[in-house]
Amino acid sequence: MSAEVLVQVDERVLVVTLNRPAKKNAITASMYGALAAAMTDADRRDDIQAVLLKGAAGNFTSGNDIGMFVDAPDGAHRGSRANDFLLGMTALRKPVVACVCGHAVGIGATVLLHCDYVVASDDARIRFPFVDLGLCPEFASTLLLQHVVGRNKATEWLLLGAPIPAAEAHLAGLVNRVVPVAMVGEEALSVAKRLATKPREALLATRSLIRESTDQLVQARLQREGTVFDALRRSREAQDIFQHFLQREPAMASSRG
Ligand code: COA
Repeated sequence: MSAEVLVQVDERVLVVTLNRPAKKNAITASMYGALAAAMTDADRRDDIQAVLLKGAAGNFTSGNDIGMFVDAPDGAHRGSRANDFLLGMTALRKPVVACVCGHAVGIGATVLLHCDYVVASDDARIRFPFVDLGLCPEFASTLLLQHVVGRNKATEWLLLGAPIPAAEAHLAGLVNRVVPVAMVGEEALSVAKRLATKPREALLATRSLIRESTDQLVQARLQREGTVFDALRRSREAQDIFQHFLQREPAMASSRG
């Protein structure tokens, strides 16, 4: 297991931590591989009944490592392992609690739509930056976000891409609970442990019923978004935006977000 993805067991909870603090926990191809393996493991193991997903050092994640989107001279790119995680997460039968603090950008925002309970700290800022990057949203967020927060709010968040404070995300229904930053880890773990002690068959059956009406639509939308995303990713417009981000000066870095 990669040191940039830490996996521990706490009672019946699989605790998965994105651990790349120098890059605000931006997710690389190898991290996606580790995340996919963690989801498969959580699904398979009888001693695990819930997953807790969090980030190290005060941030959830700044999303896909933008370097993964850049086309190499041979026309290849490094981003395809993300798909293994998307499929692993949507196939998982056990509940997932997200512990969100600091930045939750890109897939750090869209993954929340697949979690069962989201605890955010009062400093959390959630952002769907895809259009600004020359991309379209992924992880079936063009379908699920409007189910959760309504079409107008989903359109605003996905097209304008402004950072969403935790309080607004809570009011809209994307976040279940907002707590002070010092309490967020403890609160999220406590929810995961409560889920992990529920009667197992009833818990998994109820969760499956909740998701039944959107499961097939989610799979179809994952594929559709994937096709559009990859065409946009290869466009001149998007490649220029990625290069601009990767080559920016440190002063520009601190003015973003
Ligand atoms: N991919 C690759 N590198 C990233 C990254 C990402 N998604 N997010 C942050 N980093 C890197 C920065 O380039 C910087 O690297 P450096 O120290 O080598 O220059 C380092 O992480 C710290 O980021 P910085 O931008 O200086 O921190 P900040 O606190 O000023 O801003 C963010 C944090 C998350 C607002 C900002 O980094 C950002 O907007 N990142 C891009 C988010 C994004 O668009 N993700 C893609 C989703 S599809």
